[in-house]
Amino acid sequence: MVALRFASLFLLSTSIAVLGANLPSDPAASNYLTSTPPSLGTWAETRLTAIIKASSAPTLNAAFDAFLAQDVKITLNNKPISRADYISERLSKGFTPSASINYTGSIAVPAVANSTQAGLVALFFRDHVSSTVESAMNLVIASGKVSIINQIALGL
Ligand SMILES: *[C@@H]1O[C@H](CO)[C@@H](O)[C@H](O)[C@H]1NC(C)=O
Ligand SMILES: *[C@@H]1O[C@H](CO)[C@@H](O)[C@H](O)[C@H]1NC(C)=O
Repeated sequence: MVALRFASLFLLSTSIAVLGANLPSDPAASNYLTSTPPSLGTWAETRLTAIIKASSAPTLNAAFDAFLAQDVKITLNNKPISRADYISERLSKGFTPSASINYTGSIAVPAVANSTQAGLVALFFRDHVSSTVESAMNLVIASGKVSIINQIALGL
């Protein structure tokens, strides 16, 4: 019961943080970034959408090059995966005009603590190319490309 109440308090404070509120009474408030660059989330969504909806191998490769830095570090379900293998996995799903991706949530914050990073984006989405996959993806964006991806993906 007490644990449950704690859990809901935690969830409540998490949602407040997500909304960007900075509560003076919250000792963790100084760790929340309150200024959000809206363009960063849109940037990530636009480029990821191009990867899902790519209609040929050349457009897919171009879409990946516009998104991922050459030395990107990718973790998929807690396992490191090379850039080439990550691209191959998308390639193996093929191309279909009905491919779709729907974003159900996103957060973006500027990387104020480290000027070589433009910012951090979290995306929550569901995509379908050859099967439906639900993902949560945390991205570090630096010098106009994604330098780190941490993705949790669940096949539905
Ligand atoms: C800043 O970010 C870069 C790229 O992710 C990283 O290599 C570097 O260690 C970071 N520096 C600090 C001070 O956190
Ligand atoms: C995304 O939303 C559209 C419109 O509701 C729907 O037709 C499509 O199946 C959805 N795609 C996924 C992967 O959930």
